[in-house]
Amino acid sequence: MGNFKVKDHYFDKAKRENYLARSIYKLEEIDQRFKILKPGMIVVDFGYYPGSWIQYTSKVIGDDGRVVGIDIQEVNKKLTGIKNVRVYQKDIFNISDLAQLDVLDKFDVVLSDMAPSTTGVQSLDQIRSLNLVESVFGLLPKFLKVGGNFVIKVFDSQDAQNYLKEQKNRFNEFHYLKPKSTRSVSKEFFVIGKQFKA
Ligand SMILES: C[S@@+](CC[C@H](N)C(=O)[O-])C[C@H]1O[C@@H](n2cnc3c(N)ncnc32)[C@H](O)[C@@H]1O
Repeated sequence: MGNFKVKDHYFDKAKRENYLARSIYKLEEIDQRFKILKPGMIVVDFGYYPGSWIQYTSKVIGDDGRVVGIDIQEVNKKLTGIKNVRVYQKDIFNISDLAQLDVLDKFDVVLSDMAPSTTGVQSLDQIRSLNLVESVFGLLPKFLKVGGNFVIKVFDSQDAQNYLKEQKNRFNEFHYLKPKSTRSVSKEFFVIGKQFKA
């Protein structure tokens, strides 16, 4: 192999189909299974960069919808020309008011593919990851409409499982999925909450 990076099937497919990351196929599978996104919806994508989830969402919600991406990374200019997309360079935990995102109302859907920076020390990474997940669940009342949908990436651990059980009742439907395009060694999976209660 002339290249040390493992370029798998989904990496090649994303490149061929002009998507900004292979993660597109995770959201696609989640949406096909659980019907998260619909035309006309207003969506926020926490940690959008480089933006394959934005590309997917933009197509599904269409001209009447809008997707707002937030990331601490510099704005990806490849997305700024798309009509129903807005991207911001911000830390999601520093948004005090939705007006900072030029929206008036809460969102129909909150997506989060965020991950903390990893240390390689498994126990520490698990704690950081769960802290992040808990903080995002904590933001839901501010960002998500009652009746709205939620997708979040979680790294598996016993503590994460326990925490998620406590969150289940905040939604009418609560699902777990490990998408096919997730590498089999990865401990990540996705939680899908439908119809947020309050
Ligand atoms: C796995 S990437 C997202 C990939 C994206 N879903 C896609 O399809 O292109 C996770 C992103 O979360 C961002 N992130 C982590 N913590 C954040 C925070 N507190 N606020 C905003 N973005 C954050 C990182 O900068 C990183 O770009």
